[in-house]
Amino acid sequence: MEDETGVSRQFAASSVVAGLARDLVAGALRGWGLSFLVSDAVLVVGELMANAVEVSRAADVIKVHVGCGPGEIVLAVWDGCAARPVPRRVELSLETLDLCPERFDDNGGWGLSIVESLAARCWVDPTPPRGKWVCAALKADVR
Ligand SMILES: Nc1ncnc2c1ncn2[C@@H]1O[C@H](COP(=O)(O)OP(=O)(O)OP(=O)(O)O)[C@@H](O)[C@H]1O
Ligand SMILES: [Mg+2]
Repeated sequence: MEDETGVSRQFAASSVVAGLARDLVAGALRGWGLSFLVSDAVLVVGELMANAVEVSRAADVIKVHVGCGPGEIVLAVWDGCAARPVPRRVELSLETLDLCPERFDDNGGWGLSIVESLAARCWVDPTPPRGKWVCAALKADVR
């Protein structure tokens, strides 16, 4: 992104690092005077991190980036998996929470729907020869 100020870090692909990524994002946003975005941003990065960890092995690296550009912030999580995210595109409602009763409370498929609901845009940047950044931009202009 042009004119972007950003913070990046890499982690081992473990579920315990999601909290570190959330702290990284929250700290960067507060430093840029964008505290009002923290709650949405940590939710988005937490979902992207969970997906990246899920498709990685424990010894793999995943990376997190939070960037501040004109009118928006960009959240991005990198993993080395070749597969692309597949949003399920279900309507978020109480009725659709448990589509499959035999897997009560463990139906999955919500993360990217939440990300798409909160983000102004989402995209994937492949990083040949391996992996991709999964990205989401949140509007940062106060109205
Ligand atoms: N980084 C990724 N790399 C490869 N595939 C991904 C990635 N992120 C998501 N996917 C695919 O997209 C699907 C949908 O992701 P989503 O986050 O919406 O649901 P989920 O992770 O299956 O469940 P939940 O997020 O509700 O726990 C995943 O099941 C997975 O197949
Ligand atoms: Mg998920």
